Amino acid sequence: MKDGKFITLGIESSCDETAASIVADGRELLSNVISSQIDIHTEFGGVVPEIASRKHLENVNWVIEKAIADAGCTTEDIDLIGVTYGPGLVGALLIGVAAAKAMAFACDIPLVGVNHMHGHVAANYLEHPDLEPPFMGLVVSGGHTNIIFVEEYNSCRKLGSTRDDAAGEAFDKVARVIGLGYPGGPKVDRAAKGGNRDAIAFKRVYLEQGSYDFSFSGLKTQALNYLNTERQAGREINVNDVAASFQEAVVEVIVDKAIAAALEYDQKRIVMAGGVASNSRLRELISERAAEHDIEVLRPSPVLCTDNGAMIASAAYYAYKNGERSGFDLDAVPGLEF
Ligand code: KG4
Ligand code: ZN
Repeated sequence: MKDGKFITLGIESSCDETAASIVADGRELLSNVISSQIDIHTEFGGVVPEIASRKHLENVNWVIEKAIADAGCTTEDIDLIGVTYGPGLVGALLIGVAAAKAMAFACDIPLVGVNHMHGHVAANYLEHPDLEPPFMGLVVSGGHTNIIFVEEYNSCRKLGSTRDDAAGEAFDKVARVIGLGYPGGPKVDRAAKGGNRDAIAFKRVYLEQGSYDFSFSGLKTQALNYLNTERQAGREINVNDVAASFQEAVVEVIVDKAIAAALEYDQKRIVMAGGVASNSRLRELISERAAEHDIEVLRPSPVLCTDNGAMIASAAYYAYKNGERSGFDLDAVPGLEF
C-alpha cells in the first residue's frame, strides 16, 4: 500500500515490448516504462522470436526497477504482481513470467497471471475513470481481432474473432507487399492520409449473415494481384491509394460488425483496444457510425493501445479482487484463448 492505495506492478513481455508499470487501485497510472524492440526487428522486416526473447532477458530487470522508481515506490509498497502469461511468443512470455515469479517469491507478494487480451481491454479502465462493465469490446491487435461482450470485470463472452489473419497482421503484411516496411500499421495509416480510399475496390469480407468473425488473409493476395496487374500493364503504382483503399476495406468491416454487435446486445458503449485501435481512420469511421445510433465510443490513447504493463496491472487488480491467485507453477500459454 502507498498513501492508502493498493499498488499493482504489471509486467508485459508477450511480443516485442518489454514493459512494466505501477498502477494504484487498478485505475491510476503511477509509472509506465516501455522498452520497444521495434528498431531491432525492423532490420528483419518483422519480429524474430529468438531475438525478442534475448532482448526481453536483457531488459526485464531494469524496466521493472525503473517502473518502481518512477512511481516513487519501493518493493515494500507493492501489493500484487500481475504478469502476461499468454497469448504470445513462448520464449518472450517466459521471461516476464519468470521475472514475476522470482520477485513474487523473493518479496512475498501475491501473483496473478493475466490474459494479454483481457489486459488490452483493461487499458480503458486507466483512461476512463467512470467506465464499468457491461460494454461491447472491440480488440484489434497484431495477433487478434475480437468482438467481446464484457459483462463484468472478470467475465466476458467472445462473440467473434478472426478465422485467419488478425487486423494488425493484415496491415503488416500489406505494408510489406507495397514496400512500406515494418511496423506496417502506423505506416499504412500515414500513407493512407494522402491517398484515395475509393481508388481500388478491395473486397469486404463479411462471412455468413450475422457472423461476428473476420477474415483478412485474402487482402494480402488482392494487394499482390493488383500490384502485379498494374506492373505488367506498365502503370505506375500509387502507394498512398493502395494504402487508403486497403485500410478502408479493413476498417469498414470492423466498424460494421462492432456496431451490429452493440445493437444486438443493446449496448450503448463500444470500448476499443489493441494496437490497431490507434488507427486514425478506424477511430474516425467508428465514431461517425456510432453517433448515428447514439452509441459512445471509448478508446485508450495510443500509448495504452499498444502493449504496456499498465493494462496488465489493471486487469490483474480486478482478477485479484475476484479471488484469483497464481502459484509458482504459473507457466506461459502461447495459445491462450480470450
Ligand atoms: O496490440 P499490439 O501492440 O500488439 C499485439 O498484441 O499484437 O498491436 C500491434 C499491431 C501491429 O500489427 C501494428 O501494425 C498495429 O498494431 N498498429 C496499427 C497502427 N498502430 C499499430 N495498425 C493500424 N494503424 C495504426 N495506426
Ligand atoms: Zn497486444
